[in-house]
Amino acid sequence: MKKLVKNGTIVTATDTYFGDILIDDGVIVMIGVELEAQGAEVIDAAGCYVFPGGIDPHTHLDMPFGGTVTIDDFESGTRAAAFGGTTTVIDFCLTSKGAPLQSAVKTWHDKSRGKACIDYSFHLMVAELNDDVLFELPQIIDEEGITSLKVFMAYKNVFQADDDTLYKTLLLAKEQGALVMVHAENGDVIDYLINKALADGKTDPIYHALTRPAVLEGEATGRACNLTELADSQLYVVHVTCAEAAWKIEEARKKGLRIYGETCPQYLLLDVSVLNLPNFEGAKYVWSPPLREKWNQDVLWDLLKNGMLQTIGSDQCSFNFNGQKDLGIHDFSKIPNGGPTIEDRFSLLYSEGVAKGRISLNRFADIIATSSAKLFGLFPQKGTVAIGSDADLVIFDPYAERTISASSHHMKVDYNAFEGMKVTGEPVSVLVRGEYVIRDKQFVGTPGYGHYLPRKRFNQPERLPLKEKSLGGVSG
Ligand code: URP
Ligand code: ZN
Ligand code: ZN
Repeated sequence: MKKLVKNGTIVTATDTYFGDILIDDGVIVMIGVELEAQGAEVIDAAGCYVFPGGIDPHTHLDMPFGGTVTIDDFESGTRAAAFGGTTTVIDFCLTSKGAPLQSAVKTWHDKSRGKACIDYSFHLMVAELNDDVLFELPQIIDEEGITSLKVFMAYKNVFQADDDTLYKTLLLAKEQGALVMVHAENGDVIDYLINKALADGKTDPIYHALTRPAVLEGEATGRACNLTELADSQLYVVHVTCAEAAWKIEEARKKGLRIYGETCPQYLLLDVSVLNLPNFEGAKYVWSPPLREKWNQDVLWDLLKNGMLQTIGSDQCSFNFNGQKDLGIHDFSKIPNGGPTIEDRFSLLYSEGVAKGRISLNRFADIIATSSAKLFGLFPQKGTVAIGSDADLVIFDPYAERTISASSHHMKVDYNAFEGMKVTGEPVSVLVRGEYVIRDKQFVGTPGYGHYLPRKRFNQPERLPLKEKSLGGVSG
């Protein structure tokens, strides 16, 4: 059935205008003023913005980590994402050394199939680059449309890969048209600092931050940028937290390198002081890299505003405070790393970014959706409001006010890192491929509705421009 979104203010990465959107068969087929369509269901968006559905480029749903498994899976995680205005997530498919990549991808399909309420895709972790992986990777890029490869430079003895692997992955990515993603921290030195802290009897959550200083994120980010330059490849640095790292990305971009950066709401809005909260509450704020000193937030906001950082990911990696985070009650290094932000990513960026005048509406649309679609091979199917694009739309009331709380959020996790924070603006209705998933703030979606999205290769043009035929004229 056709739907007609009427009287909204359409916002894309480039434009803000008053208009109507006609949807047929899940796709936007017409945009105009005072459109009429016989038999179409009319959605009144008066007084609302109509944004492209958010794309969250960084989630860990149903992921084993730190001796446990993230509490939000593809069902609860994507339902919560939809409430928050996100219509596509790209999740990290973990691999293990020695095991076929294809079996890891199958595991991730099994976790998500029949559960996801919104569309989704996968990045693939690269732990080693031996002959088997070299043989399998091009096939996976081709057949699964997984065109982004993740290398961890930290989590020694768990996920960490060496520089040889990172460099070879960059070379392969260049050849295959993939984007390499890095978790950039110096895992070897962090491992030394953790062991030293524990030997000195320092076990509280704050030592998580103190053993992962910003200089080690800056060092790893700079190293990854240098290797990318040497390989003439492309790099996306996930969860940038601090000036030391962000400035490395800025420096590389100013040289003209294909290097991109993502930050997360937690690094823009929370600071390291919360790790000192009493009664082990600091464990709720254990992310890697850790929260930083407050002054870093201004640097991140500035670089987001001026385009030196391109995206915002939730890094959704939720563990209950009771029964999961408390694995580390006597040893900070055993606190599962990560937190829940999938639901509030969109609202936090709008409220703290647009409503507080830090970024424009169009920059918001770019950061929340368009940039990720372009970097990860989903544009223009996703990430914009345009004729021919999927009708992934967020009808957003910019005047609504709410207070974030675990008592009202839709994630399974038992706390919210932004508990008590007041935000301005809220998604009212959310459509994925033209179907309501959220209607008037109620969930009306279906687990399993979400499609797996194979993605295009990095920077692959939609179609080569046609060579102009000779226009005739005098020859000879
Ligand atoms: O603490 C975090 N960020 N947990 C998720 C895993 C990762 O490093 O992204
Ligand atoms: Zn990471
Ligand atoms: Zn992550």
